[in-house]
Formats: sequence, structure tokens, C-alpha cells
Amino acid sequence: MASSIIHFLLLLFVFVSFSNAQLPTHPGIIFDLERDPSTLQYMIKINQGTPRRQVKLVVDLGGKLPWFACHEGYNSSSVQQVSCTSSQCSQADKSVSTCAKPNDKRCSIYIRNPVTRSVGKGELISDVVTVKSDPDNQQTPVPSSRSFAFGCAATSNILSGLATSSKGVAGLGRLSALSLASQIAAGFRYPNIFALDLHDSVRDEKILETTGKIYFGGGPYIHYFWGISDLADRVLTYTPLLINPKSKNEYFVDVKSIKVHGETIPINTNLLSINKSTGIGGTKIDIRIPYTTLETSIYKAFIKAHTEWVDRLNTANAELMDFPNITMVAPVAPFTTCYDSSTIILRGPSVVNNVAPSVSFVFPTSVWNISFFDLVIAKEGVACVAFVDGGLNPMTSIVIGARQIGFLEFDISRSRLGFEEPNLKECATC
Ligand SMILES: *[C@@H]1O[C@H](CO)[C@@H](O)[C@H](O)[C@H]1NC(C)=O
Ligand SMILES: *[C@@H]1O[C@H](CO)[C@@H](O)[C@H](O)[C@H]1NC(C)=O
Ligand SMILES: *[C@@H]1O[C@H](CO)[C@@H](O)[C@H](O)[C@H]1NC(C)=O
Ligand SMILES: *[C@@H]1O[C@H](CO)[C@@H](O)[C@H](O)[C@H]1NC(C)=O
Repeated sequence: MASSIIHFLLLLFVFVSFSNAQLPTHPGIIFDLERDPSTLQYMIKINQGTPRRQVKLVVDLGGKLPWFACHEGYNSSSVQQVSCTSSQCSQADKSVSTCAKPNDKRCSIYIRNPVTRSVGKGELISDVVTVKSDPDNQQTPVPSSRSFAFGCAATSNILSGLATSSKGVAGLGRLSALSLASQIAAGFRYPNIFALDLHDSVRDEKILETTGKIYFGGGPYIHYFWGISDLADRVLTYTPLLINPKSKNEYFVDVKSIKVHGETIPINTNLLSINKSTGIGGTKIDIRIPYTTLETSIYKAFIKAHTEWVDRLNTANAELMDFPNITMVAPVAPFTTCYDSSTIILRGPSVVNNVAPSVSFVFPTSVWNISFFDLVIAKEGVACVAFVDGGLNPMTSIVIGARQIGFLEFDISRSRLGFEEPNLKECATC
């Protein structure tokens, strides 16, 4: 049995090598992501400096630039100062007016910690980073190194709140010329696009691994459905990215309504728009948030729609015994609505075809069906609705977090967000 699977995979691999020639090609650049088990932050792994060493930086979508802590000394023979007269320095948050001291060409800047919001002093430097192209996209590899500008933070407590194995933050801010995405786009002449691919591999209710990838330079995003069919490109649907004037580096989208199992939930629509003078309201994407948060009134309406759907399902099928008897159990924080996981096993595609996708974000001209049954195993035997109450007066009404991100393309060059329909073959908890 095992050997036949291996044969199948080998055949698949051969098939894949040939069929790649027909797929649209774009080399792109890819980095692995790793999730810190305690803070749940995603870190990008980059190889940097001379001699090369791997550093992990916490991914911050709204961050202005990549930076790391330098207070213990930064030993690399390829490091260079970024001059205070350079255009790169003029893009940074300078802490001293341009070239204030004679004979000191350092570019002194402020560096922000996105978790504690503390600000420290540092300087802008540049050093080499080695990159690799997407191994699933069998193009001529990009065996390259390029120099990138980094913030080098001199303050020792600048790392507080960040994953302990991280050395800093990778800022991917939308309008910043110093963001890692902008620098890669400029360095390799790619369009300014990056994409996140976050997924859990789950077996027997246990999360074996939470990993991910980040692609720079655009698609195609070729990936396998292991053991099922073949290599595929991702088919994306788009919605415009909005700019919040008070937070221009973040990624806002125009959610007009939310559907739970096909039914629009009641929402005070004021919450869904961004107040241009205060920056309050609206919907953004934030990888640092593990589960999507909804302002309290939205959360209540959302949970009500979920539980009513479960009640209807139980009542309608009580006689048929076609569905399991979905049973609510004591919630596990931070969730409020949890079920006995042995009662919610949705059996096969016939069942899934009969139910509407569980959560849809409705944009002006497109709909993102984020999942068919978005539950997370909070502890053994307990599956919870994977959304969290964001409180009564949050800055942003809806913050779409890592769990719901799945695969997203941030196309800065065309100001749009690309999303994918959920794929049942990959749906871990279905
Ligand atoms: C950097 O190099 C110096 C001198 O070789 C050494 O004393 C110091 O410990 C090194 N620092 C780090 C962080 O490796
Ligand atoms: C998304 O879900 C809705 C039902 O809520 C369905 O009508 C629509 O076809 C789905 N969209 C796609 C692209 O599958
Ligand atoms: C935005 O917020 C300000 C301050 O709270 C308020 O005066 C104003 O009416 C709001 N604008 C809109 C369009 O809601
Ligand atoms: C469903 O389960 C609950 C609690 O386990 C039980 O009280 C109820 O009778 C069950 N309903 C059916 C239709 O089996």
C-alpha cells in the first residue's frame, strides 16, 4: 500500500515536471514562514549578512521597513552604512534632521515595535540577503543575493513582545518604499506584489504543524494537492484595497456585509466604513491576529446566526439521522461557541454540497467565501467557531486574522487583494 502511494507520487512528480512547461511562468521569490507556538506570530526566515546566517523576523503587514536588533553588535563583513543624503534615508522616519553632524553620514532613524508600540532609536544600514525562487515553479532559479536596507535598532528592549526566536520585524507596509515587498520589487524588477500562504496540517484533531510561505513578485502560485490530482495554479478573485488616511501602510478592504450560511447578518453599516478624520472603523487584514476579530455587536449577530443554523440543522435532520446531533459544550477561551467535535463530522462532499459556505465576506463586486465550516479544535474533542469578540470600541471593526487568511495576494501595484475560494480537498476540518 505504502509503496503504491510512493509510486503514485513519483509518477505525479514526473508528470508535474513535464506539465510545468505549459503553465504560465514567473520565477518569483519565496521565503518560508514559521509560526511561534507561544505568541502565534508568523516569522519570515531570511539568510543575511556575511558569513550568511539565518534570522527570523516577525511579519508585520503594516510595518514601514524590515529591522532587527543590533544592540549586541551586528557582525557582518558586507554591512554598509546608508548615507543620510540618500533617497532611502529620506523615506525613513529620521530621528535627526538630515546630516545634522558634520563628518557623520549615518542615517539615524526611529524604529517601531508593532506589538508594544514602543519606539527606539537606530540607524539605516544595508546588507545582502540570499533569496530563492519557488521550488514548485521549475524555472531557472534565482540564485541571487541583493542588498536591502534594514533598520538596525540600538535599544535593548526593542524586542519585547516579539517571538523569542525572532531578531526583529519584517515590515510589509503598503505605501513604504522601504518595505521588504517594495525593496524586493525594485531589486528584482518585479511588480510590487506579495502573497501569503498560511496553513495548518491537521491529523486526528491535532495540529501537526503550522507553516506557511510568502511569495514576492506575483504568480502563478503553483502548488500540489498531495496524493489527489496534480499541480495547479491558484485561481484568484479580487477586491480593491482601500487606504485608511490615518494608517496608510495597512491593508484595508471594503466589506459591505457578512453572510453566515448564506444569510446576511444585521450590522450597523457605520462600523464598516473608515472615518477619514479619525481612521476608526472598516476592515483590515492583520497576520499578527490569530483569529478574525469582530466588533462586539457584529460578533453577537455572527454567533447568533451560527447557532441558529446549527439548531435548524439538528431539528431538520433529527428523524433522518442523516446529520450527527451537533452538541454545544462549554466554551474554551477566547472562543464563546464550541461544539463536541465528535458530533460535527460533516460526512463527504454530498453533505458539504448541501450547505452554503459558512462565512462569506461580501465586497462591492465580489464575494469571498472563506470556509465551509470554520471551526478550530480548541482542545481535544472541542471544536469552536474560530472568530473572536473584538470589543465595543475597537479602532478597526473587523480584523481578518491569520486563521482566515489562508491564501491571499496583496497586489500593491494594482491596489487589490486577491483571494481564493476554499478548496474542499484542502479543507482540514471538513
Ligand atoms: C562580534 O564580533 C566581536 C569581535 O569579533 C565579538 O567580540 C562579538 O561577540 C561578536 N558579536 C556577536 C553578536 O556575535
Ligand atoms: C460563495 O457563496 C455563495 C453562497 O453564499 C454562492 O452563491 C457563491 O456561488 C459562492 N461563490 C463562489 C465563487 O463559489
Ligand atoms: C468621524 O469622527 C468624527 C469624530 O468622532 C465625527 O465628528 C464625524 O462625524 C465622523 N465622520 C463620519 C463621516 O462619521
Ligand atoms: C442530541 O444530543 C443531546 C445531548 O447529547 C440529547 O439530549 C438529544 O436527545 C439528542 N437528540 C437526538 C435527536 O438524538
